[in-house]
Amino acid sequence: MKLGILLSGRGSNFIAIADNLAAGQIPEAEIAVVISNKPYAAGIEEAQKRGLNAHVIQSKGLSRAEHDAAIVACLREHRVDLVCLAGYMRLISPVFLEAFPNRVLNIHPSLLPAFPGLDAQRQALEYGVRISGCTVHFVDENLDHGVIILQKAVPVLPADDEASLSQRILEQEHVAYTEAIKMVLSGEYEIKDRKYLKKK
Ligand code: GAR
Repeated sequence: MKLGILLSGRGSNFIAIADNLAAGQIPEAEIAVVISNKPYAAGIEEAQKRGLNAHVIQSKGLSRAEHDAAIVACLREHRVDLVCLAGYMRLISPVFLEAFPNRVLNIHPSLLPAFPGLDAQRQALEYGVRISGCTVHFVDENLDHGVIILQKAVPVLPADDEASLSQRILEQEHVAYTEAIKMVLSGEYEIKDRKYLKKK
């Protein structure tokens, strides 16, 4: 099974997935391509260093549909089965979703549906929640909204600032994403009434 990773920045989730695959956590999976919409993203530089297929596809001067069509073409060229958004800070258009129905995953640093959008960890701190975490979900046409595959919770401690809470959540993200990819690639599930249900 071939994974396509999309990122815009640091790429720590991409690195965790790559390391987990290298450690044999999902023997049937490999990273076929890494795509960034930002030219100097640390994540794409790391993909190059690791000898993976790495492409920058910038959105400048293109409509969202045109940009997404270029990304879909690149994913198809590399015969990608499953697309993983890993800190990819752009909305996905219907063109993209139609090309990969229920085959685009995202990770978000909160327990959705709480705190969608930007700065989820800051939103959680400002709201005063005592528990936060991360969510891996299928992507649909609405922001941070699709069917939830798995969530991991972490405590919010009285002394936390945005950096310390983000770090605690990130450690769980690095475990959760690979687990969720494995759950989806197993094919042993159905989606019913917004619920990911494991087949018996
Ligand atoms: C991660 O915390 C991820 O959950 C978040 O961006 C960070 C990317 O870090 N994504 C979102 O907020 C998406 N709405 P990384 O580049 O080190 O993987």
